[in-house]
Amino acid sequence: MHSSLQVALDIQNKHLGKILEENFLRSAGITLAHKNNISEPNLFFIDDGPDAGDVLGKIGSLHQKHPQASIFVISSNPSPDHIVEVMKAGASEFFMHPVNPEKIREAMNRVRLKLVEGGQKTIGRAFAFIGSKGGLGTTVLAVNTAVAMAAARGAQKTALVDLSLQSGDSSVLLDLVPKTTMADVVHNFSRFDPAFLAGVMEPSDVGVDLLAAPPSPEESAEVTGEQVARVLQACRRLYPLTAVDCPAMTLDERTMEALRGAQMVLVVTDLSVPAVRNAARLLKQLRRHEIPRVEVVVNRFVKGQSGTLEEVEKTLERRVFWLFPNDYETTIAATNRGTPLLKYDPRSPLARSIVEFAQKLQDASAFPNYRGVKGLLGKAI
Ligand SMILES: Nc1ncnc2c1ncn2[C@@H]1O[C@H](COP(=O)(O)OP(=O)(O)OP(=O)(O)O)[C@@H](O)[C@H]1O
Ligand SMILES: [Mg+2]
Repeated sequence: MHSSLQVALDIQNKHLGKILEENFLRSAGITLAHKNNISEPNLFFIDDGPDAGDVLGKIGSLHQKHPQASIFVISSNPSPDHIVEVMKAGASEFFMHPVNPEKIREAMNRVRLKLVEGGQKTIGRAFAFIGSKGGLGTTVLAVNTAVAMAAARGAQKTALVDLSLQSGDSSVLLDLVPKTTMADVVHNFSRFDPAFLAGVMEPSDVGVDLLAAPPSPEESAEVTGEQVARVLQACRRLYPLTAVDCPAMTLDERTMEALRGAQMVLVVTDLSVPAVRNAARLLKQLRRHEIPRVEVVVNRFVKGQSGTLEEVEKTLERRVFWLFPNDYETTIAATNRGTPLLKYDPRSPLARSIVEFAQKLQDASAFPNYRGVKGLLGKAI
C-alpha cells in the first residue's frame, strides 16, 4: 500500500512543532519531506501564529504548486473572516491553536484514505483459506496465492490477513518482521477505518501487504469477531483481492466472521483419511452456518492417487476444485530461505499450479477441466 504520508512542515512555534512531532510525525506510515528529500509532499502543516508572516500568500502559492496536496493550517486567529480567507486561499483544514490531537489525527486519516483509494472506492473480493487439519499447507497456499494475484495485477497490490492467530507464520513466509500487526487494530479500534488499516498493513517486496497476527497469544486472544469483520470490509475497500489465512478447524467467532466476509471459502485437505473426515465435518458445519461459495482444494496431491481422489469426492459429495502437487523440496527450501515459493522457484510444479489456481479464482471460466495437476498421460485429472 502506498499509504505513507509525506509530510512537510512550516511551523515557527517550537512548542507546536514538538506537539506535532510527538503525536503524529514519528508514527509508522509518516515520512518527513525535508529529511527524505521529497519534493512532492502529500500534506503541509502551516503555522498561522503571530510571527507567521503572509500566511495567505504562502497557502496560495503552495496550493498552486502542489494542487494534489492537502494543506493543514494551525492558527491562533479565530476570526470567522480570517478562516474564510484561509480556506479560500486553498487550505484543506483549519485548526485552532492549541490543537486537539484527535481532530488532527482524523483529518490525517482522511488524507491517507484519499491517497490510498486514489479517488475510487474499490470493492474487492476476499478468499478465506481454512485447513481441515493443522499442517496441511494452508498458510503456504494462502500466502502464495496472494503473491500470484499480486504478480498478475502489476502495480495493484494484494492483501493478506493472517488470522492464524496462534501460530501466525505468514510473515515468516514473506520474510517480514512486521512493525504493525492486528494488535494495533485491537488497541485503536475506536478509530478504525480503511485509512487506519492502510497505515498498519506491512508492505512486502512481492506486492502483498500483510496484516500480521498479533505478536503474543494474550493479544491474539483479544481479537474479536467484529474486528475481523471490519478488517475484511476495509481490505475490500483498499485492495481488489484479499487472501485470509484462517486457523485449521477453529470455527470461533473470529474465523466465522472471516468466512462470512469472504466471497469464497477454500477448505484445504489432503487425501488422508483423518483430513478427509475432518473436511466432511467442516463442510457440514459451514452448511449449517449458511456460508455460501465453499470449495475444496487438495494439497500435496501425488500422481497416481486418482482412485483415492474419486473416493474422497464421493465422501465429500462434491468435485474437488483444485489439486496442488506434492512438492516438498521446493516448499521447504523456499521456507528456509524466507522467500515465497513463487519467487524462489516460479517454474516448480507447485508454483505453476498456484499461479493457475489464482487465475481460476478470478475467472471461473479459466481452465474448464484442468485443475492443477495433469495425469500420467498428460491429460487433465
Ligand atoms: N504442496 C506441498 N507439497 C509439499 N509440502 C508442502 C506443500 N504445501 C505445504 N507443504 C509443507 O507443509 C508444511 C506445513 O505448511 P503450512 O505451515 O503452510 O501448513 P498449515 O496448514 O498452515 O499449518 P498450521 O496448521 O500449523 O498453520 C510446511 O513444511 C510446508 O513446507
Ligand atoms: Mg498455517
